Amino acid sequence: MASPDAPLLRALRGDRPERQPVWFMRQAGRSLPEYRELRVGTRMLDACLTPDLAAEVTLQPIRRHGVDAAIFFSDIVVPLRLAGVAVEIEPGRGPVFAEPVRTADDVARVTSIDPAEVAAAAEPIREAVRLVTAELDDAVPLIGFAGAPFTLAAYLVEGGPSKEHLRARGMMHADPESWHRLAGWLAEVSRAFLAAQIDGGAQAVQLFDSWAGSLSRAAFLEYVAPHSRTALEGIDVPRIHFGVGTGPFLADMRLGGIADAVGVDWRMPLDEAAAIVGPDTTLQGNIDPALLGAPWPVLAAHVDDVLSRGRAARAHVLNLGHGVPPDTDPTVLTRIVARAHGETE
Ligand code: CP3
Repeated sequence: MASPDAPLLRALRGDRPERQPVWFMRQAGRSLPEYRELRVGTRMLDACLTPDLAAEVTLQPIRRHGVDAAIFFSDIVVPLRLAGVAVEIEPGRGPVFAEPVRTADDVARVTSIDPAEVAAAAEPIREAVRLVTAELDDAVPLIGFAGAPFTLAAYLVEGGPSKEHLRARGMMHADPESWHRLAGWLAEVSRAFLAAQIDGGAQAVQLFDSWAGSLSRAAFLEYVAPHSRTALEGIDVPRIHFGVGTGPFLADMRLGGIADAVGVDWRMPLDEAAAIVGPDTTLQGNIDPALLGAPWPVLAAHVDDVLSRGRAARAHVLNLGHGVPPDTDPTVLTRIVARAHGETE
């Protein structure tokens, strides 16, 4: 278990620790050969529910890269599986639901499942988190996570991955009552998943609203933000709220101030983002994943620029603007960490 003075935790509280905290979304996963080897023959969601496997995969990037945080190896749809919803993750595609939730009747059926079912079935999650936190030292906290209600609905209503999430966005306007019922239920399901990870020893959480960028600001405020707030309410560790393409409503991503930090993708420089979110919010990001394959001097200059603009925020956690692409050379990630820590040129 990490000390409260771990650089990541200090930065989330608004301090500027001497050591610049850095971690990567999707640091555990296919960019690592040791991950690919361990996963052979096990389906993604089965791996997530096997405590020693999930713990080992979580720890792999800590050993390799020297990052300042672990992110729990799991998936945003795991709590839905725990609730008894039929879902699989198809390799190269993403989450797929056997029965999409599209009509008022579908919504009534799925929301009749008590979110307490998630807490009751979450023992493999608590156990995996305990195994991880027992191995981590003072300086490295574990970040727990969950999907935000909209990003979960983007899969559940569609039945699988989609580009513009038209069915989920459509339900908001065609049948607002069903939408609010579904999103409210998803918020409780995600909150139960976060609570299980905190029980096991997670010391910060991140809510992923990866697809929020497909919403207008008006739709975000009316149909999404209240439910994302619910997912994070009563969580007593620092909270990071992440989305992609949320520049048009970045200040609203603070969720009225309950988010200690807001994620920024690569589209907006951090000094601009800092001016928008104000002095009470830490920023996380915003290395462009497209530059990971560029010659090192080009990437290094970009990392330096991100760090320098990040000084405009009250505090900054270095990360990518979105997840590590699977074909990334992992030695590049190690090099970014060393540079952020001032250990190399
Ligand atoms: O290292 C980490 O960041 C922790 C683990 C993590 C995974 N999924 C593991 C995973 C986290 C935080 C997630 C969250 C997640 N899952 C999000 C939000 C984050 C984001 O990237 O925006 C989303 C949208 C999902 C849904 C999902 N699950 C997708 C789109 C995919 C990719 C499908 C594919 O194969 O390309 C998954 C599967 C998944 N989740 C993998 C991993 C490591 C790949 C599975 C594999 O290795 O076969």
